[in-house]
Amino acid sequence: MLFPVLRGFQTAPSWRESSIWRGYGLARREWGNVILTKRRYYGTGLRKGAYLMANRERVRELARTAIDGGTPLAWFERCYQEAAGDTGFIPWVDLVPNPALIEWVESDTTAISSGTNIVVVGCGLGDNAEAIASRGAKVTAFDISPTAIDWCKTRFPRSRVRYAAADATDPPASWRGSFDLAVEIYTLQVLPPEIQERAQAGVASLLKVGGKLLSICRGREDNSEQPADYRRPLTRGELERYARFGLKVVSFDDFLDNETPPVRRFRALFRRETARS
Ligand SMILES: C[S@@+](CC[C@H](N)C(=O)[O-])C[C@H]1O[C@@H](n2cnc3c(N)ncnc32)[C@H](O)[C@@H]1O
Repeated sequence: MLFPVLRGFQTAPSWRESSIWRGYGLARREWGNVILTKRRYYGTGLRKGAYLMANRERVRELARTAIDGGTPLAWFERCYQEAAGDTGFIPWVDLVPNPALIEWVESDTTAISSGTNIVVVGCGLGDNAEAIASRGAKVTAFDISPTAIDWCKTRFPRSRVRYAAADATDPPASWRGSFDLAVEIYTLQVLPPEIQERAQAGVASLLKVGGKLLSICRGREDNSEQPADYRRPLTRGELERYARFGLKVVSFDDFLDNETPPVRRFRALFRRETARS
């Protein structure tokens, strides 16, 4: 069961001592910094809440302005620029790897090994990429925001990850068909619906035949209304549009995470069946 493991994420030191953290010294040291950072910027109680709400509203405004101005992907770079090194400004930054990714990695020990060629899509500040690389895999991680990529390199100066600025809707031709595993977390869900499919085509094209895609996102019921927000939970049907680009579903988890209140998430594993994309 996924949920009990996720619950343990915030509380049980034994989980944080699990194998994925070994060799991930920077992130573990940063765990302390997260707390310091939050104290420094957020204060406590009401001040913390007001700080987070103001940041979220500013990020929404950046998204709205870019979308209304016809440049729907431009706000990510603006967001990282405006953060100016303050990780607390960016709503999705936790400074730890995604718990549903870690749970998947630990449940399938064959998924990642030395020699596995992995691409992390929309890598943000690099925590997921670093956690995967600590397993010995060869990792390329990209984000549309050059500022986010520079930030990753500053955070992890001795990283084995190859960081690059690139666009999932039009990835570099030299990357196509070259990865055993693609990991996409919370990126598809922040793209406007008209761009999502192009991004799915781009991500699918990165895989070798037989390669896999792990995708984690917010989930919503089929035919339910799309919330007017930069975060757009996907329906199962939207996520499974990868089938149009030669990918077949291997497994699909629909679960509630450990946030308060809990958030519905999908975690899907796909396999590329055909060379066509
Ligand atoms: C919600 S954040 C998630 C970041 C990271 N995956 C995580 O789970 O913390 C989405 C990320 O995708 C990046 N992004 C958005 N559109 C992209 C695109 N077309 N190609 C590559 N990255 C993109 C954004 O800059 C941002 O860092």
